[in-house]
Amino acid sequence: MTLEGVETLDAGVVPRVARAREPRVVRVALAGCGVVGGELLRILKHGEARLAARNGLRFEVVRVLARTAGRPRPDELPEGVLTTDLDAFLAAEAELVVEAIGGVDPAVRIARTALAAGRRVVTANKALVAAHGPELAALARQSGTRIDFEGAVAGGVPIVRALRDSLPLTGVRSIRGVLNGTSNYVLTRLAEGRSYADALARAQAAGFAEADPSRDVSGEDAADKIRILAWLAFGVAPERLPVRRRGIAPGADRLAADAAALRGVVRLVAECAQTAEGVVASVEPVVVGPGSELGRTRNEDNAVLVESDWNGRVCLAGPGAGGGPTASALLADMVRGAQRQPPPTQRRGVQDRRPHRWAVSVEAGPGAAEALRRALDRAGVPVAGEPLRGGSLARTAPVAWPRVDLATRALTAEGRRPLVSRVER
Ligand code: HSE
Repeated sequence: MTLEGVETLDAGVVPRVARAREPRVVRVALAGCGVVGGELLRILKHGEARLAARNGLRFEVVRVLARTAGRPRPDELPEGVLTTDLDAFLAAEAELVVEAIGGVDPAVRIARTALAAGRRVVTANKALVAAHGPELAALARQSGTRIDFEGAVAGGVPIVRALRDSLPLTGVRSIRGVLNGTSNYVLTRLAEGRSYADALARAQAAGFAEADPSRDVSGEDAADKIRILAWLAFGVAPERLPVRRRGIAPGADRLAADAAALRGVVRLVAECAQTAEGVVASVEPVVVGPGSELGRTRNEDNAVLVESDWNGRVCLAGPGAGGGPTASALLADMVRGAQRQPPPTQRRGVQDRRPHRWAVSVEAGPGAAEALRRALDRAGVPVAGEPLRGGSLARTAPVAWPRVDLATRALTAEGRRPLVSRVER
């Protein structure tokens, strides 16, 4: 059966022909046998009958690339396919290459080689797509094949598909959301009274965190993801979009306390928006209402809000990290057929200079209130209302980030350890 037929099946219609025929065998080379790759092998094995009946497909995994030998492997790993040799992996006769190895290298070599040879590529690698997405999409187009990356953003939440297929036609104005499951898990545990170290260790043990978890809590992981969404929604090259970025560490405890003092909760929010000057993007702690869509996002869940001219506000939410959701997104792309490729682009984004309200805090102690007031005053940041927590926490009137940045730099130079959240309540 054709891949177009598979698309029809995706929509829930099972043509009689799919049931009558033997499933079509798709030979797969899988790079990565860790949390995500291992889970994909399990899903393929245990979902084999369903895939055959529903989609008329059987994925045969012919080669699996692992970074290192000797690690425990899932029982579902087919015998004799494992290699740690990149060349042997690249030489595998497979029509579909699934990349779940993470990082930019060797992932970019794998994707380039596969696409240049006309093989289809499916990846969950946000760092790869944020750094090389348009180049790889162009290569796929030249070679008459395709690259899909649903698993690269928001795990099992189908935001990539929505932005590739339909939402851009609605005149998207902005996208904002919780895009990092690990930091959201940590913030949820902190609110329950657990320590930061304990919460992060649990996120790592559950397979939510990156190999280097500092990418999660610093906002780098979410920055890669918002760059990808900005590419799909606005056609801006992801590697050329400046992202104002602050993470939840160091200082997650104080960020949570600052938000509580403002009767809100803190979330690490990624945003991109079309402004009169161009496309802007940020990843930063934001104080939101506890009952808001983002405030209600708990544990490793992600939530994405898309605002558009003709479609109003769409919210997609669900599991944003972990082996099962990410492997499910990979499988959806593996099954998927021809889909419009995002356009090649060289467009740049611009710095975000829109005014927002902010909460700025410094470490409590002698002279803290005076230092905070002075720094905000000198930077021309308008303060709103009375300072809180003995003067160590101030709320601002709407003001553009560069002024707040100036104030925080001055406070940092004085050793006051400033923390800033955007306030949206
Ligand atoms: N480390 C990522 C997260 C995994 O926590 O969201 C999913 O991309």
